[in-house]
Amino acid sequence: MSASSTTAAIAAGQPQGALGTSRSDADRGRTAGRLLRYAAGFWFCVAALGQLIFAAYVAGFYGRAAAQGRPELWNKVLPHGYVAGEPGLNLVLGMHLLFAVVITIGGLLQLIPPLRRRLPAFHRWTGRAYLVAAVIMSVSGLVVIWMRGTVGDFASHVIISFNALLILTCATVAWRRARAHRFDLHRQWALRLFLAVSGVWFFRVGLMFWIVVNQGPVGFDPDSFIGPALTVLGLVAYFLPQGVVELYLRAQQSRSPSAKVVMAGGLTALSLMMAVGIAAATAIMWLPRL
Ligand code: HEM
Repeated sequence: MSASSTTAAIAAGQPQGALGTSRSDADRGRTAGRLLRYAAGFWFCVAALGQLIFAAYVAGFYGRAAAQGRPELWNKVLPHGYVAGEPGLNLVLGMHLLFAVVITIGGLLQLIPPLRRRLPAFHRWTGRAYLVAAVIMSVSGLVVIWMRGTVGDFASHVIISFNALLILTCATVAWRRARAHRFDLHRQWALRLFLAVSGVWFFRVGLMFWIVVNQGPVGFDPDSFIGPALTVLGLVAYFLPQGVVELYLRAQQSRSPSAKVVMAGGLTALSLMMAVGIAAATAIMWLPRL
């Protein structure tokens, strides 16, 4: 504290100890804020790397098969991938896979702050494309799951269907808040949307984390893809991130340095778990199919 500000403080009747305390409180607050920003940045970098690998796998495996005119190769992974004589549903699944790449890369672009600040028109247009992709992904996913079927039991189909409804809800609210120029609320809903859209990716990464930690497929049957572990994983992958983002937004706005530090620690732990899941998913699921 400079001599003049100390004199001013004494003249204003403020005890020095109190001022010293508030200054160190402010320092603590700034440091905690910085920690939280770094932790969120680290989380984003890990997620971005994992999502780019996922997008490269989808384009490389499904895209290449389609480009070669051999969509039946999809069936190496998907039990109901390409079905001869069902052109309508094949097209819906093809759209689902194509837009999986668009939405994964688009979501990452939307969240890069310098892009939002320096190229607002780009952010607006990619944002609109992202919202359209979110609707296409949810509706095509619902059509495939309920009209054609896939692995898993009824509970897992219901759980992922609620994920589709969550995506549609977050997309609608994020869009309406942007139209109303409520950009603070738009940002919050866009984050919720990004996490809802990332649900299927969290599921894959979470599954691989679970398999690595347990040294094998514990709690489910790997052939039918049914079991309590997968029901719980579905709930965790699709809905827990909404709780975490709520805590993150509150910690960001909180005056308490401890809240920010605890949140930063939690985010870092989640990022490390995610990194393990991404490494396993890349090595076991994605790279071998390319
Ligand atoms: C919005 C983000 C989504 C992305 C990025 C995405 C991506 C994918 C990908 C890449 C596949 C191929 C499987 C693989 O190789 O891993 C797939 C399959 C599938 N997706 Fe999605 N998906 C999303 C959302 C949804 C939703 C919300 C639903 C359901 C409501 C859904 C239903 C399905 C179904 C049923 C299959 C499997 C089809 C089969 O077994 O033949 N997806 N998805």
